[in-house]
Amino acid sequence: MSSSSSKRSCSAGPADGDSNQENVTDRMVQSVLAHDTHAIMEHATGMVRYLDCAATTPVDPRVREEVLLYLDHEFGNAGSRTHDFGRRARNAVEAARDRVAAVVSASRGDVFFTSGATESNNLAILGLEEHGRATGRTHVITSRIEHHAVLEPMTELERRGFDVTWLDPTPGGWIEADAVRDALRPETLLVSIMHVNNETGVLQPVADIAGALGDHPAFFHVDAAQGFGKEVRSLAHKRIDLISVSGHKIHAPKGVGALLLRRRNNERPPVKPLLLGGGQERGLRAGTLPVHQIAGLGKAAELALAEWPMRDRCCRAFRERLLEGLAPLAPVIHGDLERSLPNIVNLSIPGIDADTVMEAWSELVAVSDGAACTSASYTCSHVLSAMRVPEAQMSGALRFSWCHSSELPDLAAMVAAIDG
Ligand SMILES: Cc1ncc(COP(=O)(O)O)c(C=O)c1O
Repeated sequence: MSSSSSKRSCSAGPADGDSNQENVTDRMVQSVLAHDTHAIMEHATGMVRYLDCAATTPVDPRVREEVLLYLDHEFGNAGSRTHDFGRRARNAVEAARDRVAAVVSASRGDVFFTSGATESNNLAILGLEEHGRATGRTHVITSRIEHHAVLEPMTELERRGFDVTWLDPTPGGWIEADAVRDALRPETLLVSIMHVNNETGVLQPVADIAGALGDHPAFFHVDAAQGFGKEVRSLAHKRIDLISVSGHKIHAPKGVGALLLRRRNNERPPVKPLLLGGGQERGLRAGTLPVHQIAGLGKAAELALAEWPMRDRCCRAFRERLLEGLAPLAPVIHGDLERSLPNIVNLSIPGIDADTVMEAWSELVAVSDGAACTSASYTCSHVLSAMRVPEAQMSGALRFSWCHSSELPDLAAMVAAIDG
């Protein structure tokens, strides 16, 4: 690992004003060659700090190298049986399977590659429909704070005649294990609760929920798009049967992910494929494997597992300095920080709506209000609504999300832009 990013492990220092737009491209190329993710982030955004890592993360240069190897040189089809090009591509896919499995203490055979967490969630939920009908188990449990990639397939199951229990979160933003236990019925087929909420960063007690399910036959699916490789303990719980993973939240490219299907009592969840074709991924997900993307996901998973303590530490330090810097604006935080991953904060500044704040900060920081009330539709965040956040606060909700290589924005300028 020749990376200078490993030396510059945490960087929460404010912008130093050295960014010169004219040389941005040159310096960015040099940064990529030097494996310097800090510099890449800085040059990519000029003086505007990118704090929207829950939407997507920059690709790690070490991942990029792996992707390029299988894009440019080892370009074989992993399905080709007649020559070494195919064999080498297949080996890369199997190595990536091992790397993804290791993050959650699973085995190589548990990993099925997909195009991302949206597809994995659809496959997990709709793929169990046939088994539910065949066994007379047509009740499922989920929560009101899931991502749309779970809410929509659940709504589709409901439309197809399944009974869906929609659990409410606590005001702090998590689903209680007891609420899941109380909702269980003999005919419950599936429980789907996310790992980390994408709007608030609140970590859901998935290990406790797994424990609460005990010997009940219901399958337990966890959408781990936001937490995979960031919080590594709870997903190792053997009672979690299905796990959805997304590459682009852990510094791999967009368009690749995985669904893990763990064996319980020696049997894998009987998920049926949604795509039919050449029988790839043991018949569960047809389509030529994007070897370069899969190799990139594998590399990103390996790095996430090796570096998570450092990354976690950097993100915690960043959060502390961010909240300290914004304290003069008396922000109201949505979601229990004690239970949150350290790379996401959802907050509002009293009396100011999100659009106004983002306009005032447009030269300083790139954050998201996608989770708040959208001025186009006047519909507020389903997550904050379910947490019973007052409407006045919801209309000001902003999501800050960062990663270990993020640089702090100019916090004094941010405060002055609102207060000054
Ligand atoms: C919790 C959660 N689930 C699913 C997804 C969808 O993931 P992908 O972009 O890999 O389809 C996201 C993306 O933001 C997410 O945050």
